[in-house]
Amino acid sequence: MDLVEVHFAAANKTVFVQPGTTLLAAATLAGVDWPTGCTRGMCGTDAATVVTSAPDALDAPAEPERGTLDRMGLPTGCRLLCSARVRRGAVAVQGDAVG
Ligand code: FES
Repeated sequence: MDLVEVHFAAANKTVFVQPGTTLLAAATLAGVDWPTGCTRGMCGTDAATVVTSAPDALDAPAEPERGTLDRMGLPTGCRLLCSARVRRGAVAVQGDAVG
């Protein structure tokens, strides 16, 4: 199984993780201290703008992530790091989508 590249732009750190890994777990592996709260897709503390190498580089948002993104009014391309799971290719986490 091919690893997925995850780059954290603000920290300029990159890790390679197994498909199915959350972006928050990737941040921890990369040594990036990303703000979190509930870690269950409910609070939105860890929202970030994410750029992917392909449309299916991440699993599509499921509940409760989908509902939280909608409630916060965040644009397409924003994900909750605790909930977004990588699938293939490369993912770049650009920065905090809220602040
Ligand atoms: S930490 Fe609460 S939504 Fe991710």
